[in-house]
Amino acid sequence: MLKIIANPKSIDAIVKKTVRLQLTEEPISAHRFVESADGNTTYKMGIGKWSEITARSFRTIVRTIVQTAKAHEIESLAIEMNLAQFPKLGEQSEIWFYQTITENLLLADYEYNTFKTTKKKRLTLKEVLVCNLTKVEVIKAIEKGIIVGTYTNHGRDIANTPANKLSPADFGKAAKKLMSGTKVIVKILGEKELKKLKMGALLAVGQGAESETKFIIAEYWGAKDKKEQPIVLVGKGITYDTGGLNVKPSGFMHDMHLDMSGGSAVLSAIACAGKLGLKKNIIALVPTAENAISDRAMRAGDIVTAMNGKTIEVLHTDAEGRMVLADALTYSERYKPKAILDVATLTGAALVALGQHASAIMTKDTTLSNKLVELGETSGDLVWPLPLWDEYKQYLKSNRADISNIATNFSRYGGSIEGGTFLSAFAPKNVPWCHIDIAPRMDSIASDKLAKGSTGEPIRLLVKFLEQA
Ligand code: BES
Ligand code: ZN
Ligand code: ZN
Repeated sequence: MLKIIANPKSIDAIVKKTVRLQLTEEPISAHRFVESADGNTTYKMGIGKWSEITARSFRTIVRTIVQTAKAHEIESLAIEMNLAQFPKLGEQSEIWFYQTITENLLLADYEYNTFKTTKKKRLTLKEVLVCNLTKVEVIKAIEKGIIVGTYTNHGRDIANTPANKLSPADFGKAAKKLMSGTKVIVKILGEKELKKLKMGALLAVGQGAESETKFIIAEYWGAKDKKEQPIVLVGKGITYDTGGLNVKPSGFMHDMHLDMSGGSAVLSAIACAGKLGLKKNIIALVPTAENAISDRAMRAGDIVTAMNGKTIEVLHTDAEGRMVLADALTYSERYKPKAILDVATLTGAALVALGQHASAIMTKDTTLSNKLVELGETSGDLVWPLPLWDEYKQYLKSNRADISNIATNFSRYGGSIEGGTFLSAFAPKNVPWCHIDIAPRMDSIASDKLAKGSTGEPIRLLVKFLEQA
């Protein structure tokens, strides 16, 4: 794994084996190696006008540095950057600056090579020396960036695992492994216990699969007062989404091993909080099942009873995420949470609404909404609100049960809001709650400058939220 090293010396004192990176104001396409008389190599990289660089473009620059270093097989790289050089980053602190550099170096370095049998012969980037750092708080910011970046990459590793290698039971095992070295406790409930709890919606989604449905519970009691109300994170953990009997068309199914990205994100966030030793009480709940096709599978037209006693008319078997989350939201009540965030690759409609640049957030709590938008901007996990108005409830009024899992007229209009509206019927009352539909950020896009596959969003945002909550 890439080592990020805080180096007290100036970049000018860097020795030969390490390439010095020098950012210039030249256009982005202008980059070249320059050899100096003393035998040192400098890589000059144009990043455009520094006065125009924002927090968003700054993160991309950091990622591009790693991609460039990899392309040129640089093994050791030295960088020296200074917040004062970027006037548009004026609102950010030095801590933010160095933590952001570190996180994005690690995120850009990540590759998912687990199943490549022929390892690349190319040289890889082994270390980045961040130069001219002496302040204690800045060195701490680098250490924190390493933790956040590493746990985000752990989350991507779990999310990227194909479904034939990650069943709900394997997901539970991966959760336990993820928490090692932290004070997070993991409990895993199986189908027998879920039946006792009357989690009929979660069980229905998993009933067609060979693999057993599970419910992963991670608890971190980090606050001084163990009775302090916890923050509850809920993550969708569908290890594979075929769509069920309403099967997905080809071209829309192959990446559905990533349908547990919400689950891996909340588990990585609580693990990271544990590693950082946050003085907070935090719970992560992950209902996990495979939405498979078989003669035992849930049918369109079935009516199931959720844990809170409400009956659900299943009009579409591909709207399974909201069903597993419904029971997890009911379960969250027992913790008397201070706030609840649920994270889910819930709807393709979120991509229609926002493209692939931001996750959709839905909440009636405007303070919470504004907070998440702001934290998304500082962490890099952009989120944008959609309304969660009562007007949308009418479409889910079932003829045969208490609620239907999609609009009874089969309309696809406002599909993401429909998902959020369904969840609102199960979220504990009078608790600040926000639904985060991360379907738009499930897979990376070229402009992210990240490896293909999981983006690891919104782990950084969740960690920031937990810190300030
Ligand atoms: N997991 C999908 C949503 C999804 C789609 C995530 C594309 C990422 C990329 C979800 O379970 C689903 O299939 N939702 C349906 C809902 C519909 C049946 C109301 C959808 O989006 O089509
Ligand atoms: Zn689905
Ligand atoms: Zn799904």
